[in-house]
Amino acid sequence: MQVNGKSIRTIWFDEPAQCVRIIDQTRLPHHFEIIAIDSLEQACEAITTMQVRGAPLIGITAAYGVFLAMRAGHESVTQVCQLLRATRPTAVNLQWALIQMESALATVPRQERSAVALVLANRLAEEDAAACSAIGDHGHALIETAWQKKREHSPEARCLNILTHCNAGWLATVDWGTALAPIYKAHRAGIPVHVWVDETRPRNQGAFLTAWELQQEGIAHTVIVDNAGGHLMQHGDVDMCIVGSDRTTASGDVCNKIGTYLKALAAFDNDVPFYVALPVSTIDFALHDGVREIPIEQRHAHEVSHMQGLDALGQLTKIQVMTEASAVSNYGFDVTPARLVTALITEKGVFGANKESLQAIAP
Ligand code: MRU
Repeated sequence: MQVNGKSIRTIWFDEPAQCVRIIDQTRLPHHFEIIAIDSLEQACEAITTMQVRGAPLIGITAAYGVFLAMRAGHESVTQVCQLLRATRPTAVNLQWALIQMESALATVPRQERSAVALVLANRLAEEDAAACSAIGDHGHALIETAWQKKREHSPEARCLNILTHCNAGWLATVDWGTALAPIYKAHRAGIPVHVWVDETRPRNQGAFLTAWELQQEGIAHTVIVDNAGGHLMQHGDVDMCIVGSDRTTASGDVCNKIGTYLKALAAFDNDVPFYVALPVSTIDFALHDGVREIPIEQRHAHEVSHMQGLDALGQLTKIQVMTEASAVSNYGFDVTPARLVTALITEKGVFGANKESLQAIAP
């Protein structure tokens, strides 16, 4: 995608420098900084501190982490994968990517592992970008139909209003994104889209990352507080919701950033279509009951009690927004039951959020 008019991806192997490069997402939107990852430890840290985040991107970062460990001569692929797997528990793409790496390296002699791991990590990155582009094409068709229908009913309509939660844009993947890919493709095809961006407390991925991505692409958008969506839906100001997913069960339950469930409930109550865009690697076909079975990450209380932004001197700084006297809980994700999901947009097409429909793409 574009940053200041230049094409860029979120992660790549820098051949001349022989290191992995990422965009440090903890510095956005105020600072755009590319940093190097040179070791397994740095790959783990980048995932836990959320310099990289978003389900598909943490999977690809883990794959490069395996390569960096092999290059440094780590003996046990299994131990390396265990370390990477422990960084974040909810997004299944992390485990998916590590299974690909571990099984590909199982029979490779030690001195060849580094080269093989790099080829595979590069391939997984390419495949992720291609999958997200295809998600964009399938989702674009849904947006086009919705826009045509809206125009038939209200010829005076100026735009199609789409609500999204968190950041499921290109920053959350290698390129294109999941929930935002259909929006990018629709915008490039000339459909006038306007995006309601949930700020997504506590880490503000919506206000900091999604809004920044949309600015870069010149797409009309408005940042709203997380609780505004229901009100907008009651007033007919949301035509559809599109969100991403960190793990989706074989029965179509969707785990995504905390607050997604409440948006789905409001959408259901107001007859607003609620779409979830995801690569097939996000579907955990071993699970059937999302609420009971998906592990929900709990993060540090500081993410709730403090906020990051620019101070009066333009320095990126953290301020405390509440007293230390109150207890804080910080659940990172929630589960939206399949019955609230209109459809799942994948690289293989659009599927109903149910076991029968998803069986067509089960491995
Ligand atoms: O905690 P994060 O920022 O990694 O959470 C990201 C999300 O919840 C995204 O919506 C999800 O990973 C889908 S990414 C295409």
